[in-house]
Amino acid sequence: MHFRVRKAETVDADAACAAVRRSIQECCGEDHRGDPGILAAWLANKTPENLRSWIQSHGHVVVAELSGNIVGGAMLSREGTIVLNYLVPEAHSQGLGSAMLAALEGEARRRGLEELELYSTATAHQFYVRKGYVETGKRGSAFGLSSRGMRKILGRLDEPGRSSDSTVADGGVSPGHGSPHA
Ligand SMILES: CC(C)(COP(=O)(O)OP(=O)(O)OC[C@H]1O[C@@H](n2cnc3c(N)ncnc32)[C@H](O)[C@@H]1OP(=O)(O)O)[C@@H](O)C(=O)NCCC(=O)NCCS
Repeated sequence: MHFRVRKAETVDADAACAAVRRSIQECCGEDHRGDPGILAAWLANKTPENLRSWIQSHGHVVVAELSGNIVGGAMLSREGTIVLNYLVPEAHSQGLGSAMLAALEGEARRRGLEELELYSTATAHQFYVRKGYVETGKRGSAFGLSSRGMRKILGRLDEPGRSSDSTVADGGVSPGHGSPHA
């Protein structure tokens, strides 16, 4: 299977919204624990209309495609925080999450940001640890969730070996390879 991470366009809003909602519902049970109140609050602002406006905002939204279908989305806010990073379950563990994060980190560097912050779900905590994020000690409580503040100091664009454009990433993937909350 072939994946691609690219900057989102307005026409992607419906599919990106559906993928984000499925990821929250189906992949984040460790966080929402099936609590209907938490789930309703978490999903309430994940609407196609909001996705459209976030894509058109001064933030930066990317989508992940697997075999041509949108399977996830991630967003860097205008303030420089990662506020979305979600993939549907069948797209996990193939490098797409890494590619979306790399795209946001690349955009942050282009914007001159020296560090990135986020509030991690319990579900994704180890993923961020592997990607060099450390806990800030802050706690988030959006939507009734308990999330952990994490941050990463970004290398500079002109460091040797750093690409100046990681907005688009392509990957050929062989099967089996192995506030959060805008
Ligand atoms: C977090 C998420 C985007 C990661 O995407 P992914 O495509 O599965 O991750 P990758 O395949 O790029 O994996 C990168 C590394 O992180 C590890 N990893 C990924 N998810 C992990 C998890 N939940 N726990 C532990 N390790 C994890 C992988 O094993 C891999 O390790 P390696 O580099 O040593 O091979 C995806 O799991 C997801 O959508 N989770 C549910 C939504 C969520 O909680 N989002 C975060 C909101 S803040």
